[in-house]
Amino acid sequence: MRKIDVVKGLLPATVVAGERGEAFAPSNIALCKYWGKRDRELNLPINASLSVSLAHLGSHTIVTESDTGADRVVLNGIEQSTDSKFARKVVEFVSLFRGDLQQPVLVSTENNIPTAAGLASSASGFAALMLALNQFYNLNLTDIELSACARMGSGSASRSIFTGFVEWQMGHRDDGMDSHAIVLDKPWPDLRIGLVKVTTAEKKVDSRAGMQRTVESAHLYQSWPLQAAADLEKLHLAIGQQDFMLLGETAEQNALSMHATMIASWPPLLYWQPESVAAMHKVWDLRAQGLQVYFTMDAGPNIKLLFQQQDEAALLEAFPELEVVAPFSS
Ligand code: DP6
Repeated sequence: MRKIDVVKGLLPATVVAGERGEAFAPSNIALCKYWGKRDRELNLPINASLSVSLAHLGSHTIVTESDTGADRVVLNGIEQSTDSKFARKVVEFVSLFRGDLQQPVLVSTENNIPTAAGLASSASGFAALMLALNQFYNLNLTDIELSACARMGSGSASRSIFTGFVEWQMGHRDDGMDSHAIVLDKPWPDLRIGLVKVTTAEKKVDSRAGMQRTVESAHLYQSWPLQAAADLEKLHLAIGQQDFMLLGETAEQNALSMHATMIASWPPLLYWQPESVAAMHKVWDLRAQGLQVYFTMDAGPNIKLLFQQQDEAALLEAFPELEVVAPFSS
């Protein structure tokens, strides 16, 4: 099915624009990753995934009427050229929701996370845009519908509609409306995420192209849905019992399993830089010394640490540049 046909069924008979739509959405880190699509048009996943949101780190988006007679996209205060990949994706997404309205819009987004450095700014970006559009066009969509719609912008954005631990259920319907996130509502106040920034440079192959290449060329990918399903169960158990070791071990093995499928693609996909590997060894060394720390990685060179509040000082000593996020602090 085409996105436009799916969205049409959710829009009011006449779409009416308000003055302004404004929203914040947090970035999220998957503990069980989304990797591979069964439908590339609708971003329907081959496996369910589970993430934790990054509190204050994310995207803040404002949608208003454009005063130039053309759609405008501004990112972190910089006007984006209309034929840039970023602006085209944003305008294409807006166009799904404006019905017959021809009125051009100004979409202005501030990201307080590095764009395209493996810190999932597309997740918070499309979630914030979806929330802002819902307000601007008075769409009155439910949270579930907002999540399913954000998914059509970027899969991981389905999870950024919610905060805390969030599961994106894969769904089975052709129109994808059962493929949305749900919130688990299991706060874990002591949990900490540490961002180790290896590089903020734009990566050469984005997640979208990377997962497609993996699905098409890696025989190893056959084992991925099984790994993900087993990990999802373990994560539910770990979150339910606040079993940190189970959470960390599962997340780390899940990330490395995903990277194994990438490395087994052709041409091979290795997002790791020497500094990424050095950080992994450091984590393993610290763990051998008795520190409870684990890592996860997305389609980029950066490492995200998982640890508990009690070990924050020790980790700041080991990684002086660490940015620490408390996902459940208010
Ligand atoms: C490795 O959501 O960016 O971060 O749906 O094509 O936009 P598209 O992909 P995207 O992929 C994220 C992949 C990941 C794992 C995850 O966040 O679950």
